[in-house]
Amino acid sequence: MTTDLRSWAARTARARLCELPRRWAHTQGVARRAALAAGVVDDPDLLIAAAWLHDIGYAPDLVRTGFHPIDGTIHLAAQGISDRLCGLVAHHSCASVEARNRGLTIDWPDERTSLRDALWWADLTTTPTGEVTDGSSRIEEVRRRYGADHVVTRSVVEAAPELLAAVGRTERLLAERDQV
Ligand SMILES: [Fe+2]
Repeated sequence: MTTDLRSWAARTARARLCELPRRWAHTQGVARRAALAAGVVDDPDLLIAAAWLHDIGYAPDLVRTGFHPIDGTIHLAAQGISDRLCGLVAHHSCASVEARNRGLTIDWPDERTSLRDALWWADLTTTPTGEVTDGSSRIEEVRRRYGADHVVTRSVVEAAPELLAAVGRTERLLAERDQV
């Protein structure tokens, strides 16, 4: 179910997010970025499927806890999606920090691999409207958008070293690949 997984994920994301134009534009951009990193991960279809699905928890019908990585994953788990894909979506872009700050726990493992880093890289280097950016600018944009006191801002500031480390690891792998 490799290519099938990828197209199922794209269709699922479109169905859930097409009425949220910014989230859908961002998601399409993240999927494009993920495709660029396909050569530096062990399972490119899984990476691209996770990119399509990472924000589906923003879909109004799927809101449970109010924290989109967990809400999206609850839905995916109910569809019988693999634990690995669930873990990628649940932990995308250092979600564990914001989960803790919201008093929530994530019930899926964070695999801490180059594939997971590449998903974080794709998300962190894509603007809310789907254009390419860099990790530091994206973190700054989140701070401005939510304001200093918001749990999202506090969490992204706390997670920034881990986020930027994952971005850096992925960019090193991409640079090495491009030198070959
Ligand atoms: Fe995202």
